[in-house]
Amino acid sequence: MRRGTTAIEPGLALLPLRMFLGVTFVYAGVQKLSDPGFLHPGAPTYIGTQLIGFANGSPGGFILTTFAIPHPLVAGLGVAVVEIAIGLLAFFGLMTRWAAIGGLALNLLLFLTASWHTTPYFLGPDIVFVFAWLPFVITGAEGQPALDHVARRGSPAVASRMRLNPAGAEPGPEETAALTRRAFVGAAGAATLAIAGIAALAKGSYSGPTLNASRSSSRSSGSSGSNGHASAGASDTGGSTSQASSVPANAVKIGPSSQLPKGQGAIYRDPSTSQPDIVIRQSDGSLDAFSAVCTHAGCTVGYESSQIVCPCHGGTYDPTTGQVTGGPPPAPLAPKKVTEQGGAIYAIPS
Ligand code: FES
Repeated sequence: MRRGTTAIEPGLALLPLRMFLGVTFVYAGVQKLSDPGFLHPGAPTYIGTQLIGFANGSPGGFILTTFAIPHPLVAGLGVAVVEIAIGLLAFFGLMTRWAAIGGLALNLLLFLTASWHTTPYFLGPDIVFVFAWLPFVITGAEGQPALDHVARRGSPAVASRMRLNPAGAEPGPEETAALTRRAFVGAAGAATLAIAGIAALAKGSYSGPTLNASRSSSRSSGSSGSNGHASAGASDTGGSTSQASSVPANAVKIGPSSQLPKGQGAIYRDPSTSQPDIVIRQSDGSLDAFSAVCTHAGCTVGYESSQIVCPCHGGTYDPTTGQVTGGPPPAPLAPKKVTEQGGAIYAIPS
């Protein structure tokens, strides 16, 4: 060793990574629970539509289809709480190996589903997280400050010690350490529930527009759309006068015009594919509609700050053309047909 240099334990060099993983997992769980739309069907960030997008054409999709998609609320809440628990355990170095195994498994599942369509593969974060967890699966928190070491000091001899130590006797140092470990585990569980509860309470209620598709027999005069664009009809929001054209017989009513004021977007279910689509009311009252399935990795996009935004990796699209304006999406959003008639918006199956 050269003079003037200080030897650092190899394990200690991994401490910043463990801290980062812990903080990031807690943040990811809190972010989900504090998102008002996460558990709200029809919202841009609704977990149910995200899961369908993740399962679409990915090798891990059958796992989501079997276990998560039938129970989206349980899956969404479960993932958020598990992320917080894993993050806390990793941060404090308690049951570090088990936390790392859980984190690696979760990121591997996300790599095989949510990030599967990311090209090139290293642009998706989940494969990086998989390998970031790996050292802690192999060595735990060896060589780092961690609660595991406090617990380990007492655990190997506890059973025999308990046999030798008669009931009512003062606990020895091993028993004390074991009790301390139980207290830590209990505290970590309580902290997970407390953080999850606070995050869930902080989310408020979802207030964004949601349009629900339903078959309608209403067929009156008005404007019709093609290639994703519809001029405003005689609606209370469009401001234009009625035009003489009819709503196609196979059109599906997705909601009242009043639910979509100028400058807002709303998610609805495509009548042909059941996939999420997004319809946007432009400032001149006209409507544009596109597939809401992000072309990057299948997340459901939303509309905010005058652009279409993907919540997963920050992809953005032009709200009038669907063209990519930023981020990793490789292709524009597919246009959809909508029309407006008699105060209602209709989706036209393609
Ligand atoms: S899924 Fe990655 S940007 Fe949309």
